[in-house]
Amino acid sequence: MTANTSRSTVLTGIGTLVTNDPTVGEGPLGLIRDAAVVFDGGVVAWVGRADSAPAGDVGHDLDGRAVLPGFVESHSHLVFGGERAEEFAARMAGQPYAAGGIRNTIEATRNATDEQLEANTRRLLDESLRSGSTTVECKTGYGQTVAHELRSTTIAASLTDEVTLLAAHVPPPEYAGRADDYVAMVCAEMIDACAPQAKWIDVFCETGAFDRDQAHAVLTAGMAKGLIPRVHGNQLREGPGVQLAVELGAASVDHVCYTTQADIDALAQSSTVATLLPGADFSTRNKYPDARALLDAGVTVALGADCNPGTSYTTSLPFCIAIAVRDMHMTPDEAVWAATAGGARALQRADVGVLRPGARADALALDAPSYLHLAYRPGVPLVRDVWRGGELAW
Ligand code: NIG
Ligand code: FE
Repeated sequence: MTANTSRSTVLTGIGTLVTNDPTVGEGPLGLIRDAAVVFDGGVVAWVGRADSAPAGDVGHDLDGRAVLPGFVESHSHLVFGGERAEEFAARMAGQPYAAGGIRNTIEATRNATDEQLEANTRRLLDESLRSGSTTVECKTGYGQTVAHELRSTTIAASLTDEVTLLAAHVPPPEYAGRADDYVAMVCAEMIDACAPQAKWIDVFCETGAFDRDQAHAVLTAGMAKGLIPRVHGNQLREGPGVQLAVELGAASVDHVCYTTQADIDALAQSSTVATLLPGADFSTRNKYPDARALLDAGVTVALGADCNPGTSYTTSLPFCIAIAVRDMHMTPDEAVWAATAGGARALQRADVGVLRPGARADALALDAPSYLHLAYRPGVPLVRDVWRGGELAW
């Protein structure tokens, strides 16, 4: 038997603790005031009121600050070359977003060296961490050849456990007008090559990208190789993405801006999470999703930042929480839950997004007394400390 040589850490002086465990605290966020948390061996060992906290090897007095589970970022596209600031400026001057710019990033990604791609992905993961994201899902999707997608999955897999093969993002230029041929290649070759390094299979099911049958073919081919489906759907107009995700038991359908009542009903009766990505709607001047209708129908809602160079070049979940509250009419409690426990549901993870004994010791402290300040003080870098696996990571 190996001796446990880990040093425990006690966080004391927590003004408000968000546990997301309603069995130990108030409301759905499981709030505990004047709280303490103990980390040991990379996991949470104890949670409760400070006046009954056990002793630990290392102490951190939070001096009344709020502590939350680390954010769980369940939607990002971090492996890419170049950037598209000019496309953004043109959009702000009135050009619509039509997803065609994805091909510019495909070209820049193919032209980037392995080192450049890896460095850019690391930079964005560091940036995410500094805004409190301790678990980050990372999609491929800017290679769209077997070799380039394999390179992207390899880079992503070296940096996160949550790798998504976005095998069908848009038909690349060499397949222009031949989306069915591209899908056939993805199903016959790309998924076989990349699946061992990925957990998830994703597809952009939207006019101008892939239709229902093409998306179905890609997702079921991925599922046959052990990947779990998730879908980009209903971002730019109503369409089949939501229903397809529900039909295939996808973990999540993401964007969900244009929905029918039938879409909302289908989601409410399913285990599929609706992951809302307000950063993308902000930067494309798109319609925000009807979060209230989704939540009031009983749909599980997650929030993601959707960091990518086209629609949402932000890694900040605090920014997304502020938009979700101000413009999507989510309560601060709903938005904070969606960016933590909701993201964990979207990634089918029980060990993150919650602070309870046995969960990963992933947490953040705000330079504020309450999680409410995340929406109340938009644009202010409130994330002060970040612990990942019990270690101070920022
Ligand atoms: O999540 N919707 C499709 N994919 C990305 C956008 C990618 C891009 O424009 O480069 C998204 O918004
Ligand atoms: Fe996306």
